Amino acid sequence: MKWCSMKRGFVFCIFSGLLLCLHKGWREVDNYNYWKNTANVTIMLWKWPFGRTHSLKGNVCWDLYKIPNCTLVDQSSYFPSAHIVVFHNRELIQGSQQLPTELPRPQGQRWAWMSLESPAHNGNLKKFANIFNMTISYRRDADVTIPFGEMLPLETENNLVEDSHINKTSLVCWVVSNYRTHHRRTQVYKELNATVPVKVYGRWNKMPLSSEDLLPTISRCYFYLAFENTLAKDYVTEKLWHNAYKGGAVPVVLGPPIGDYKAVAPEHSFIHVDEFSSVQELGKYLQRLAEDRKRYEEYFNWRKHWKVKVYTDWRERLCKICLQYDILPQHKVYSDLEGWDKARNT
Ligand SMILES: *[C@@H]1O[C@H](CO)[C@@H](O)[C@H](O)[C@H]1NC(C)=O
Ligand SMILES: *[C@@H]1O[C@H](CO)[C@@H](O)[C@H](O)[C@H]1NC(C)=O
Ligand SMILES: *[C@@H]1O[C@H](CO)[C@@H](O)[C@H](O)[C@H]1NC(C)=O
Ligand SMILES: *[C@@H]1O[C@H](CO)[C@@H](O)[C@H](O)[C@H]1NC(C)=O
Repeated sequence: MKWCSMKRGFVFCIFSGLLLCLHKGWREVDNYNYWKNTANVTIMLWKWPFGRTHSLKGNVCWDLYKIPNCTLVDQSSYFPSAHIVVFHNRELIQGSQQLPTELPRPQGQRWAWMSLESPAHNGNLKKFANIFNMTISYRRDADVTIPFGEMLPLETENNLVEDSHINKTSLVCWVVSNYRTHHRRTQVYKELNATVPVKVYGRWNKMPLSSEDLLPTISRCYFYLAFENTLAKDYVTEKLWHNAYKGGAVPVVLGPPIGDYKAVAPEHSFIHVDEFSSVQELGKYLQRLAEDRKRYEEYFNWRKHWKVKVYTDWRERLCKICLQYDILPQHKVYSDLEGWDKARNT
């Protein structure tokens, strides 16, 4: 009896040792799978951009944007289990948030650098070499592109042709708050205003527009100057997507080269300043176009096939990271983030 129970105990011991071994093995497999598991991706926002918090109650990505299997969190207790930790550049540069470099960084976790500013306003990023695994920006070559807006194809052709001429009272309108003489857009405005009348709104001209008045005002203009304050690769902001397209004025754009616009906006939906040999030529073109009903209407033909989507909520941008989780490179390190950010148009 005694021997038997000893033998049993021995067998039990070996057996449980094997189990323990198996169990540990499984745990490691589990852990490996955790970071590859796309059934539930956790995106953690380290600090809210500009200190403006939003509610993350409930299943935000599903409830608001119908993006499944995507958990958006902002509490630091999630750090060990977050697949992606997102850092917004402004607060990093200003020093109001620090990278948690003292915390053990889980293997497989990606750190993302996020900014919607142009390179001129991102500061010097040299100190962020070899830290980030991915970039989130408006740029098309970022790992996750978060544009200010985009065109979505309509499911069925829209044949409701509106008369875009209705209610137009001004030829060219511009809304500007931050007026700087050294901006290229200021030079172009001055030259244009010397050729055709340009109606100026905004703080600079002491004609501020409330957000309710913005689109109705723009809708009364034939053309809207969607002039960016900085000329940088892919930097096309809400001035195009929201102000011009939603306002129903034909955008006259100044920003990155025409190819960057063509990549994201329909043919014949905008007029690029660089299409003309001089600003005077541009002015004459606008004048003639406003008088030619048929040719002016052609700049609205895109509305038959496209609708404009404008992005304003950081939660939507962050949830959309999940849609690309599967196609992120397995391993990537930005050894020269400053070089990436300041890269010129090619
Ligand atoms: C997804 O992950 C989050 C954070 O780790 C967790 O709170 C949530 O319960 C998970 N959901 C599912 C369906 O596994
Ligand atoms: C034109 O202006 C009138 C009066 O302000 C307004 O009721 C109407 O909706 C406008 N039409 C368009 C197409 O904007
Ligand atoms: C724009 O043109 C108008 C009319 O020629 C002129 O009165 C105005 O001073 C000009 N504005 C600027 C800022 O040059
Ligand atoms: C993320 O970057 C860190 C720091 O350079 C690196 O050690 C880690 O392997 C990278 N992870 C991925 C998934 O690329």
